[in-house]
Amino acid sequence: MNAQDYINREEKYGAHNYHPLPVVLERGEGPFVWDVNGKRYFDFLSAYSAVNQGHCHPKIIKALTDQAQKLTLTSRAFYNTVLGEYEEYVTKYFKYDKVLPMNSGAEADETALKLCRKWAYKKKGIKQDKAKIIACEGNFHGRTITIISMSTDPEARNDYGPFTPGIVIIPYNDLKALEKALQDPDVAGFLVEPVQGEAGVFVPDEGYLKKAYDLCKKNNVLFIADEVQTGIGRTGKLLACDHEGVRPDILILGKALSGGVMPISAVLADDEIMLTIKPGEHGSTFGGNALAAKVAIAALEVIKNEKLAENAEKLGKIFRDEMKSVKSDMIELVRGKGLLNAIVIRPKGGKTAWDVCLAMMDKGLIAKPTHEHIIRFAPPLVITEPQLKEAISLIKEAFKLFE
Ligand SMILES: Cc1ncc(COP(=O)(O)O)c(C=O)c1O
Repeated sequence: MNAQDYINREEKYGAHNYHPLPVVLERGEGPFVWDVNGKRYFDFLSAYSAVNQGHCHPKIIKALTDQAQKLTLTSRAFYNTVLGEYEEYVTKYFKYDKVLPMNSGAEADETALKLCRKWAYKKKGIKQDKAKIIACEGNFHGRTITIISMSTDPEARNDYGPFTPGIVIIPYNDLKALEKALQDPDVAGFLVEPVQGEAGVFVPDEGYLKKAYDLCKKNNVLFIADEVQTGIGRTGKLLACDHEGVRPDILILGKALSGGVMPISAVLADDEIMLTIKPGEHGSTFGGNALAAKVAIAALEVIKNEKLAENAEKLGKIFRDEMKSVKSDMIELVRGKGLLNAIVIRPKGGKTAWDVCLAMMDKGLIAKPTHEHIIRFAPPLVITEPQLKEAISLIKEAFKLFE
């Protein structure tokens, strides 16, 4: 089979809910992937930041294969020998009393919303069915009905109504709007991405998260951070909230919690919040499975042992400085934090961000537009400085083609 055969087969038998770049990948290692013709690419998407530890990290794959031969899934109907080990490890790692394990990022977000509502009725004393949660314009929290009820992106919402009530939308990075919305005594939580990833890597003003957190505290409202994309080293700290010394009341993690090996997500909170959910009131067949438990421990160990957050911080600065120095009419703006960066593209002669991505692909680097005019650049955090410099020269060569 050649590349086109693989593409045709996916088109024929798979739903058309994605629009991939025309590249067919076969193998990955560290910051690289190879296509079916053996051509090597720098992976500058990292599966939407799920592969922070690099493709097929040997320690994570070893944890996966060792555990796969012993016990994979028991369901939560029984205890097993490894879930507790993971729960202890992850709670001490992020400094929370408890973890609730799930699978996808969207599920973890849903879990956080349910947890927030439970807390609203059991602890805050909001009247049944009156609780509200504030979310931000431009958010991306996943694809379930409740989560897209919060979305302001027509592509994510159109023709999927009716939507879940109890949601208040305010502009992102707007403390005045938050302060006003918090006046409503039925507000239970504020759900926020510390950097809006899918929206195009929108970094809020310095101090926004801390001030937003303080406003929430003042009004007895839970500060809920969706760090599914920004967490686990991506922005140059373990959590993006760490840049401002904010400890969310509810922390949502996913993606790189597994090093890109399998769907693993988690919600972390202290007892006062987490223990409002009782046995039978929430769960997941696969959430907290034995395989995931061992994989997540290995994935988190790699982040610390290889100092990947520190690497992201250092290389992110180099990346932005280099990109800002590129003379191209098509580069409108470069922004980001750590190794979560974006270039806003100014279309030229009918050429758009998609064309730039095709040109980069040709040169040996794959990245994907998020919305029509923004390209996200998020390599695995194991990328080295010489590798990053090589990647930067490929990006520059690609932009030169449009001069
Ligand atoms: C901030 C954020 N939250 C949640 C999700 C949803 O995660 P998943 O695709 O695993 O459901 C994403 C995915 O891109 C995300 O970026």
